[in-house]
Amino acid sequence: MSETKKNVKLRSAEWFGTQDKNGFMYRSWMKNQGIPDHEFQGKPIIGICNTWSELTPCNAHFRKLAEHVKKGIIEAGGWPVEFPVFSNGESNLRPTAMLTRNLASMDVEESIRGNPMDAVVLLVGCDKTTPALLMGAASCDIPAIVVTGGPMLNGKLNGKSIGSGTAVWQLHEQVKAGEISMHDFLAAEAGHSRSAGTCNTMGTASTMACMAEALGTSLPHNAAIPAVDARRYVLAHMSGMRIVEMVWEDLRLSKILTREAFENAIRVNAAIGGSTNAVIHLKAIAGRIGVDLELEDWTRIGRGTPTLVDLLPSGRFLMEEFYYAGGLPGVLRRLGENGLLPNKDALTANGKTIWENNKDAPIYDEEVIRPLENPLIKDGGICILRGNLAPRGAVLKPSAASPHLMQHRGRAVVFEDFDHYKSRIMDPDLDVDENCVLVMKNCGPKGYPGMAEVGNMGLPPKLLAKGIKDMVRISDARMSGTAYGTVVLHVAPEAMAGGPLGIVKDGDMIALDCAGGRLDLEISEEEMAARLAARAEQKNDLPKSGYAQLYVDHVLQADQGCDFDFLVGQRGSAVPKHSH
Ligand code: FES
Ligand code: MG
Repeated sequence: MSETKKNVKLRSAEWFGTQDKNGFMYRSWMKNQGIPDHEFQGKPIIGICNTWSELTPCNAHFRKLAEHVKKGIIEAGGWPVEFPVFSNGESNLRPTAMLTRNLASMDVEESIRGNPMDAVVLLVGCDKTTPALLMGAASCDIPAIVVTGGPMLNGKLNGKSIGSGTAVWQLHEQVKAGEISMHDFLAAEAGHSRSAGTCNTMGTASTMACMAEALGTSLPHNAAIPAVDARRYVLAHMSGMRIVEMVWEDLRLSKILTREAFENAIRVNAAIGGSTNAVIHLKAIAGRIGVDLELEDWTRIGRGTPTLVDLLPSGRFLMEEFYYAGGLPGVLRRLGENGLLPNKDALTANGKTIWENNKDAPIYDEEVIRPLENPLIKDGGICILRGNLAPRGAVLKPSAASPHLMQHRGRAVVFEDFDHYKSRIMDPDLDVDENCVLVMKNCGPKGYPGMAEVGNMGLPPKLLAKGIKDMVRISDARMSGTAYGTVVLHVAPEAMAGGPLGIVKDGDMIALDCAGGRLDLEISEEEMAARLAARAEQKNDLPKSGYAQLYVDHVLQADQGCDFDFLVGQRGSAVPKHSH
């Protein structure tokens, strides 16, 4: 045993390290799994936090992934203990997987703190599983490493590649516009998702995988190796080996998840054309570890950064090509060589700095990871908007928007909620033209509840039939990272929390100014005050019981990351009292 090893007091020894009644009980029941005595004698016990579920298809291959992590842990002299946590599957969970992100994070946090483990491997994939597990582990602040499940292979339709999610939005618009038949639409389903893994576009899952790597919480290349590529399983094995060393080095999340790491991640999000959801999730993770992060950091650090990665929905390719082109290490190198990686010294999970890890990373395909002189988007990043319609902010993704609409003034066509939108948008008599601004209320954290990804409202069929592809849309909802359009999202405060979005009326004029960072409703202050006062009188129908009530009572607004007010911050990993 090395000097360092001798100096580290294992947390798990508080369970397994005594010869008394307690030690007997903790060990004895574990031994019913066939664990020999010597495994309890001073080896790091490594939790494998698994979001496997057949209802989360993106994570359905995770038992195999866990087996490879275990091999690595055992090889490095640790002992693995795999445990399940709530699995947030984006595709099946209603009303939205976001409603249970915080629930999953609580599950993770309490599972870690209450159990005998010295460190944890976080098996993540589908969108919300990545932030949920990082949030929970951050609140415990023990050594942790992220292993992502990896993206699906390219989708295929009629011999051509199609991207997860993005293809659905496109095909659906084409059906509505009469460009393809319902038969062709339904025929696309199987080819769209033809292998294990997460969405293969630069949607939220891929974005959060890149964020985890940019934050330094995973080994290099974790974000992009396809789920079915054998190298994904090598990475899982190596991560298992590494987490054991992290115990001996006491390399806790708080040493990795620093302010500097978040600045790197914000810059990377711009370079990859990442999802708007990252704004919410990074804020929530930062809040747990105790790092200050403001919406304006996205303007200061991210805006103006060229988008180099040419992936759908902003660009052309998919995650498979991204990995073959060099993956995130290639992007990090390119940023660093051009003075665009803010903090090269940020520490990562393998004990090296982010720059040491990536400074020599090769780039194999400059169509996919483009040179700085020929970016996909010159001014990438996330546009943060404020104004009398969004006093606490709103976001828009310029790389997914139409340049001609980013400075726009138009007449509001208002939907009171998502049901109202669905019932009204098909109406051929709806008074709307391409210069109008579609406004949807009551889809925020409290209003939906759960802030569903309904913000990319599909356009009225009569305008689609005219060949209109984009309009300005504004809501307090989120949007899938696979979606696109000139869509203003995350308006805060949301309508249901008394935000001014709730008082917009049909015919009001709205001004959007992305360059100036403004979103304004063109009514007088007096009119605004009068309408807000009248609205405050109205009663709401928020949930009155169950988890949904806990959620609406405690969820913070989008600018605060939609965490629960009582979950923000670290609560450490002190060993709780004995159970008997
Ligand atoms: Fe799971 Fe997209 S639905 S990653
Ligand atoms: Mg998604």
